[in-house]
Amino acid sequence: MTTATPTVTGSVQSNISDEVALRVEDLKVYYETPRGTVKAVDGLTFSLRQGERFALVGESGSGKSTLAMALMRLTRPPGHIAGGKAILHGTDLIGLSEEEMRKIRLSQMALVPQGAMNSLNPVMRVGNQIADGILDHLPEGAQKPSKDEMRDRVRDLLDRVGLQPMVARLFPHELSGGMKQRVAMAIGISLNPSVIIADEPTSALDVIVQRQIMQTLGRLQEGLNAAVILVGHDMGLVAQFADTVGVMYAGKLVEVAPVRTMFKNPLHAYPRLLIDSIPTMDEKKKMVGIPGMQPSLLNLPPGDAFAPRSPLQFSAEDARVEPKLVEVEPGHWVALSRPSVEDFDKYAHLVDYR
Ligand SMILES: Nc1ncnc2c1ncn2[C@@H]1O[C@H](COP(=O)(O)OP(=O)(O)OP(=O)(O)O)[C@@H](O)[C@H]1O
Ligand SMILES: [Mg+2]
Repeated sequence: MTTATPTVTGSVQSNISDEVALRVEDLKVYYETPRGTVKAVDGLTFSLRQGERFALVGESGSGKSTLAMALMRLTRPPGHIAGGKAILHGTDLIGLSEEEMRKIRLSQMALVPQGAMNSLNPVMRVGNQIADGILDHLPEGAQKPSKDEMRDRVRDLLDRVGLQPMVARLFPHELSGGMKQRVAMAIGISLNPSVIIADEPTSALDVIVQRQIMQTLGRLQEGLNAAVILVGHDMGLVAQFADTVGVMYAGKLVEVAPVRTMFKNPLHAYPRLLIDSIPTMDEKKKMVGIPGMQPSLLNLPPGDAFAPRSPLQFSAEDARVEPKLVEVEPGHWVALSRPSVEDFDKYAHLVDYR
């Protein structure tokens, strides 16, 4: 059995370096609630290389934002990091003090949080909000930029996200949704981070604006040669952006693969259903839904969380077997158990149960 971390080889992009920017190891983030422990992220392992665009998809409630917040060490009670590592360029973020982590935020790793466009300060001009972000994260002992310098930096940031300089003088309510999202991205990239996490940056925007925002994110990624984690649930949208796709289900990764492999040859039953449910223009496919409900992450029974919804034939005993994330071909990782993949027997030798 292979136990190394999923990284991607044979990606469609050529500017991905071999250097690992971020390595997540068996990360666990739990919420302690009066009704029990919600295991929102339950043992996630993957690697992100410098310059790589990694899309993380999964249904609502599968733990994507919980992961994003934990990587930034922004988990708040009743949530806590219950174990694991998040190693950014060799430094385990989980062990850092709050002060050390504050320095890393924005300057090395930036988050454009879910709903960022609605979290801009309504009574502050856009330019001042961007400037505040820069000042807040100024390295120790660094000289405060002059007013003119700051104005130039704000202009440059607005330009990089495709906004006119005059936007600096506007208040958030004077901006469209797409413009607000761009401002949120400008704040995110203001200190040239090497890793950008964008949590559903296009939800609540119309399809044209969605596409433009993705193009802008792509340009920013290229300009910084950043590694990007793009969180989304629309497989179709992320397909055009990502080098690598990771699919989460109930707090775990069920499949990680280069984008083409994910679309041409998904192995796990859940990504297969997700991909089948993408509407296409050229063939009038019957709409395929995903049967059943996603499980409650509260006191999840041991075994394969997808089993109750799996279209495959398997016994109750098989459903109780914990799937293992295994590299089935270079860069292609799949959580294997009998309920999770068709032709399981083909892969049974990769896991130590039959
Ligand atoms: N503060 C909290 N207290 C208790 N449970 C929480 C809390 N925040 C999130 N959860 C639970 O953790 C799980 C994962 O939530 P999370 O927001 O990470 O999902 P998500 O994949 O980002 O969903 P979406 O696509 O809707 O944004 C859900 O079951 C959710 O109910
Ligand atoms: Mg979310």
